[in-house]
Amino acid sequence: MRVLLTGAAGFVGRVALDQLSENHEVTAFDVRLIEGHPDAILGDVLDYKAVEEAVAGHDAVVNTIMAPNAAYNDGGPGFTINTVGAYNLFEAARVHGIKRFVHTSSGAVHTGYPGPPETFLTHDLYPLRASGTYALSKLLQEETARNFHQQHGMSIACIRPWGIIDAEKMITTDGHAVEGHSWGHIDRRDVASALVCALEADDIGYECFYVMATPGGYKAVDVARTEERLGWKPAITFPADL
Ligand SMILES: NC(=O)c1ccc[n+]([C@@H]2O[C@H](COP(=O)([O-])OP(=O)(O)OC[C@H]3O[C@@H](n4cnc5c(N)ncnc54)[C@H](O)[C@@H]3O)[C@@H](O)[C@H]2O)c1
Repeated sequence: MRVLLTGAAGFVGRVALDQLSENHEVTAFDVRLIEGHPDAILGDVLDYKAVEEAVAGHDAVVNTIMAPNAAYNDGGPGFTINTVGAYNLFEAARVHGIKRFVHTSSGAVHTGYPGPPETFLTHDLYPLRASGTYALSKLLQEETARNFHQQHGMSIACIRPWGIIDAEKMITTDGHAVEGHSWGHIDRRDVASALVCALEADDIGYECFYVMATPGGYKAVDVARTEERLGWKPAITFPADL
């Protein structure tokens, strides 16, 4: 497939770029330069015209864009980048008849419920409930996705990781050191492989998929269903329990 990967310079996006490129023709898009990829499109997801031009000529979109963590405070642009940016991508995907849209969501869409083990987080736990600005932006991204499926029949898969780390370097997205594992951890390569599986899966109308890589994660969320539906399994697992 001809795939537009947005957020390709990011923590998840960079490894997704490598994995997707194994079997697909990938165009990378990011507001930042991507080392070793001079052909990548340098663009802002808030610039609708640039987004529409980037989406044209592709069969699928895989979105990993996220505003930096510092951008959600004090009236920063984080909420707008995540929500309007996602809308721009879905709208451009509709205009260009995109066949599959894979969106990186987050377990944050359920942070308004009492956490596990009080609540078992399932793909169909609805209404969504978020706490905090970032989480609300992820909730609104999913609602936008749901709406584009309902109104326009777009095939959309949302992947819901919890705490993404690099298990080799033991760092988070922001480069902070990870001291020990917690039940929500997943390596960024396994998030990327879930995006690939969701891109290639048959029969997706609108579906959300939790991904997790610890025994505690399997007790907290319905990740077994993700394995069944997507044929996905984490390659890197951690011993952390709930
Ligand atoms: N990091 C985590 O722990 C975590 C947990 C759950 C879900 N997620 C989700 O996973 C996805 C990927 O996160 P990540 O950790 O790779 O983040 P990241 O910050 O490393 O990557 C995001 C990318 O988006 C790009 N970007 C930001 N603003 C942009 C704009 N206006 N236009 C174009 N590109 C822009 C950035 O340059 C960056 O390369 C996001 O959707 C995030 O919400 C992350």
